[in-house]
Amino acid sequence: MEAPNPFTPSFGRIPAHFAGRGSLLTAMAKALADEGRTSPDLVTMLVGPRGTGKTALLGSIGQEATAHGWIVAQVTANDGMLVDVIERLQEAAADLIDPSTPTRIKSLSIGSNFAVEFDQGTPYAGNWRTQMNRLFAQLEPYGSGILITVDEVQRNCAELETLTQAFQHFLTEGKPAALVMAGLPSEVSAMVSSKIVSFLRRARHRHIGRIGNADVEVALRKTLADEGATINEDAMAAAVAAIDGFPYMLQLVGYWMWEESLASPIALEDAQRGIRLATNELRDGVLAATYRELSNGDLRFLEAMLPDEGPSTLADIAKRMGVQSNYASKYKKRLIEAGVVGDVGQSRYTVELP
Ligand SMILES: Nc1ncnc2c1ncn2[C@@H]1O[C@H](COP(=O)(O)OP(=O)(O)O)[C@@H](O)[C@H]1O
Ligand SMILES: [Mg+2]
Repeated sequence: MEAPNPFTPSFGRIPAHFAGRGSLLTAMAKALADEGRTSPDLVTMLVGPRGTGKTALLGSIGQEATAHGWIVAQVTANDGMLVDVIERLQEAAADLIDPSTPTRIKSLSIGSNFAVEFDQGTPYAGNWRTQMNRLFAQLEPYGSGILITVDEVQRNCAELETLTQAFQHFLTEGKPAALVMAGLPSEVSAMVSSKIVSFLRRARHRHIGRIGNADVEVALRKTLADEGATINEDAMAAAVAAIDGFPYMLQLVGYWMWEESLASPIALEDAQRGIRLATNELRDGVLAATYRELSNGDLRFLEAMLPDEGPSTLADIAKRMGVQSNYASKYKKRLIEAGVVGDVGQSRYTVELP
């Protein structure tokens, strides 16, 4: 179609409309708006496989926090993240005032009654916690809290451990602090079970999974409507089936249907061509990266699930693999942590990725 394509099929992009994350985003918005800053949602861990929207959610939560007057630093877990947090916080406070101000500002004012002096003379004096304490003290007269978001959390990241340990102290000391992190299920579970960051066990864990078909449909319709487009019912049904609740696929299918249609409404044939292109791109992108990380045992476990139309039982899987249930359950655990297999209760399991 002629109009600009409203879909966002690239990692980390905030979608025009989040499908099915309403209750999470509402809870976060409420926690960030609450003056008392005591909501347990202020320490949240988003857990989900690739392409489910963790980075996009962090971005959206960061925007919401900024709108409520929080000073926000959005970083990715790696070496150097601690310095990054300090610099992003200084930048965020600076951005709120006059963008023409040079980087090495002495004084900031936010709105009319907000003025902060960051001590630029000694930008890195003291350890990370000391530097953060200084920022908290400087922000205190203005009632601004600090939100840190950490994307792609991983086990054995020393700086992440430093950050979470210090964070625990901020909370004990009653500082206005919020921490939202995101990561793959395997990395989060490895990190949370380590002794050093046991505090994170008490964080609110939000599992970011598949989205219901009804929510997928609403998001597709709204995104199309942003550019004044509509879609035929049979084409919508085909798109929703192909998307199968996977957020990244929603963007891919939407994007390619749009590209393949000459005019609104999108017809079934256009949708089918778009779906084919989207499926190829998904296979080459997310699935290839995920499957590369699986062992032979993992793959045998998945193969043993394939004959089932619906959820599989562990007993059936073990039988097809020709192994004992307790042996198969080791692979089950690994695959659940990798976000490839989902536990649907009553010892029944489904494949989570398309
Ligand atoms: N709830 C959602 N509804 C629609 N599209 C979404 C949703 N969440 C994420 N997306 C889109 O899916 C893709 C993957 O999102 P991303 O945040 O990068 O995933 P992750 O960080 O979990 O790998 C992006 O193109 C993003 O715009
Ligand atoms: Mg991401």
